[in-house]
Amino acid sequence: MEECTCNCGCADELTKELDKIIAAYRNQPGGLIQVLTKAQQLVGYLPRWIQVRVAEGLGLSLQEVYGVCSFYTFFSLIPKGRHKISICAGTACYVKGSQTIVKTLHELLGIKPGQTTADSRFTVELVRCIGACGLAPAVIIDDRDVHGRLTPELMPAILEQYQ
Ligand code: FES
Repeated sequence: MEECTCNCGCADELTKELDKIIAAYRNQPGGLIQVLTKAQQLVGYLPRWIQVRVAEGLGLSLQEVYGVCSFYTFFSLIPKGRHKISICAGTACYVKGSQTIVKTLHELLGIKPGQTTADSRFTVELVRCIGACGLAPAVIIDDRDVHGRLTPELMPAILEQYQ
């Protein structure tokens, strides 16, 4: 079976945990989604070695596993930053200047939506309406902190809150 190849010493622990997850859902309907969800919680994303191990463990093809990983947007095939900045791309936020926030974050962090900073501090993504239209343009950070009525000038202080 394939294992983590990051050489950080985590391979044994991660692999053991992953194998427990696979064993718990083997032969269960919908088990693949459950295993991938828990594997992503464990590792932070779904690198190839995880997909291979899940495929082998569940008796599926790598293509089947990859197909599910790449179909659902809540699965990530690339490493995520410690903090996720979700920029609302809904209509109200778009009209009120969400593109300005995208541009400002690009200037401040050097990344575009879908990317992670080199220091793994932030991942930026675009999302649909986050239910704070009255605060447009808005972002939600780490799925819990809504920041609204944003302007480029406000962004540096907001980013400072997340180390
Ligand atoms: S459109 Fe952005 S919060 Fe609703």
